[in-house]
Amino acid sequence: MSRAKPSHLSKPVDEIALMSENTQLSSALKSLAIVNKELAFQNAEKEKRAAELVIANKELAFQNAEKGKRAAELVIANERLHGALMNTVRVAMILSELRDPYTAGHERRVAEISVAISAELGFDTSRQEGIRVAGYLHDVGKMVIPAEILAKPGKLTEIEYSLIKQHPQAGHDVLKGVEFPWPIAEVALQHHERMDGTGYPQGLRGEDIIVEARILAVADTVESMSSHRPYRAGLGIDKALAEIERGRGTSYDAAVAEVCLKLFREKGFNIPE
Ligand SMILES: [Fe+2]
Repeated sequence: MSRAKPSHLSKPVDEIALMSENTQLSSALKSLAIVNKELAFQNAEKEKRAAELVIANKELAFQNAEKGKRAAELVIANERLHGALMNTVRVAMILSELRDPYTAGHERRVAEISVAISAELGFDTSRQEGIRVAGYLHDVGKMVIPAEILAKPGKLTEIEYSLIKQHPQAGHDVLKGVEFPWPIAEVALQHHERMDGTGYPQGLRGEDIIVEARILAVADTVESMSSHRPYRAGLGIDKALAEIERGRGTSYDAAVAEVCLKLFREKGFNIPE
């Protein structure tokens, strides 16, 4: 016969187990609560940081917009300054042309021929513009030559020719005070130099002459020989090109002369009116 275990004997064991479970649960809940609080704190921090980032982004966007506005204003101011510079250059060119009406348009045409040569040589647009300005101003030093010498129909005396030869230096002295982004004063000084050292005023040779001046030298010769002068009728473009061919590599830079001959003979380039 089996004897059942009295119920009062098992009760304390269950209560102890339950109490232990409760303690564990309560401890786990407390830990969870701490973790939750920590997470909530971290989330709040993140939200705060995100809000700060939104504000910082807005500030950056504003600053960028301001910078963009300022850059656009600078571009406009720069264009205005550039326009003013070019207008001043044109005024100086007109004054130079008025001084020597017998060669009217010479500066403009030399500029166009020089720009065409420089484009063919691969100069970028800014450098081409520098060449144009140099063409406009290369003879500005003619101001120092008495008008009667410039207009003289006959052969020049030695003294008269020595006065003519002063115009590159005079042009340089006037232009060196202007802060151009291109070597305009140097081109004025060197445009009568020749590759073999036979030019003036310094008798420079080869690459001691800046390339812009070597281009001007070719364009100047082509224009001058083609056009009428007080002392002779225009010789025509064929004779002018024959002179460039004759002096290719001796008087004139070989590559520049080559490009010039190709422009006129093969590419249909003409001296502008
Ligand atoms: Fe000249």
